[in-house]
Amino acid sequence: MVTHPKEYQGITLNEFIIQRQTNFPYAKGELSRLLSHIGIAAKIINREVNKAGLVDILGETGTTNVQGESVKKLDVFSDQQLIAALKASGECCGIASEENQEIVTFDDELSLDGKYIVCMDPLDGSSNIDVNVSIGTIFSIYRRISPRGEKAKIEDFLQKGTEQVAAGYVIYGSSTMMVYTTGLGVTGFTLDPSIGEFCLSHMRIDTPENGKIYSINEGNYIKFPEGVKKYIKYCQEKDDATNRPFTSRYIGSLVADFHRNLLKGGIFIYPETATNPSGKLRLLYECNPIAFLAEQAGGKATDGKRRILEIQPKTLHQRVPFYTGSRLMVEKAEEFLER
Ligand code: AHG
Ligand code: MN
Ligand code: MN
Repeated sequence: MVTHPKEYQGITLNEFIIQRQTNFPYAKGELSRLLSHIGIAAKIINREVNKAGLVDILGETGTTNVQGESVKKLDVFSDQQLIAALKASGECCGIASEENQEIVTFDDELSLDGKYIVCMDPLDGSSNIDVNVSIGTIFSIYRRISPRGEKAKIEDFLQKGTEQVAAGYVIYGSSTMMVYTTGLGVTGFTLDPSIGEFCLSHMRIDTPENGKIYSINEGNYIKFPEGVKKYIKYCQEKDDATNRPFTSRYIGSLVADFHRNLLKGGIFIYPETATNPSGKLRLLYECNPIAFLAEQAGGKATDGKRRILEIQPKTLHQRVPFYTGSRLMVEKAEEFLER
């Protein structure tokens, strides 16, 4: 369920961020600046994502571009844009990104003094770029643990998801949206391309406690744990009382699959398998931010047993099985895993 009160119509992302700042009496605008800069990078990435199809249609032009500019892969481009924007904000001392093996630290004076670190998946669902299917950007913001004025350290990034100050995603879909939380519910903004601004469109997103969509890559079925196989069967069985069979929907971009289920109700599963006992999705920059949003919208996110946000990360690119979405659906799936 989404509420759109009239008085909020026409409010831009930046205005909203500044308004919200007044909810935190000691806020100095640092987080606001950081979020605004992520918004700017998102607009630049959006511009390139929109052109990607065109470049692909004119395939040869794309590959032999004399300027050598549009040949960059979009995920690397997105990574660079976000790094540049976060550095420019002066509020971020370091970044963990899917695209970089190690943390990226900034050593200019302003950034060294930055209070925050960011974990990000610059382009999520990148296998969908070439085929004009929705993709996204995911981000997660923490307060640093190391003293301000020093270089960011690995410990700053290995914090539990419960410590997140803010998290969100941008979805580049039939429209482009930014959805984020600072722990006071989930808010969504839609990019109005005519004015180049993200405008408040979803004042408060509450996810239905139950739904009838299940999202899982069934191509991996034979490798799934027994509990997951049985849960899939449960989703497919007919039962009028519980609105079954459910509908299967799987895009292959976590952001897009989660966004749909968030609004309509549903469950997204990327489980552990015999060959990948930790699943595929990464804890720091995929599961934790999505879990924070899910919980803030009234949903749930677990690894099948444990709350995602309470898992102590050990490494930057650690993977974790992921079950998220409508609370009652996640609980039902967990019941099957226990049996
Ligand atoms: P990324 O493009 O950032 O590597 O992420 C892809 C992820 C995620 O978006 C999606 O849910 C999942 O991989 C899809 O994996 P399968 O193709 O194995 O279903
Ligand atoms: Mn991803
Ligand atoms: Mn990615």
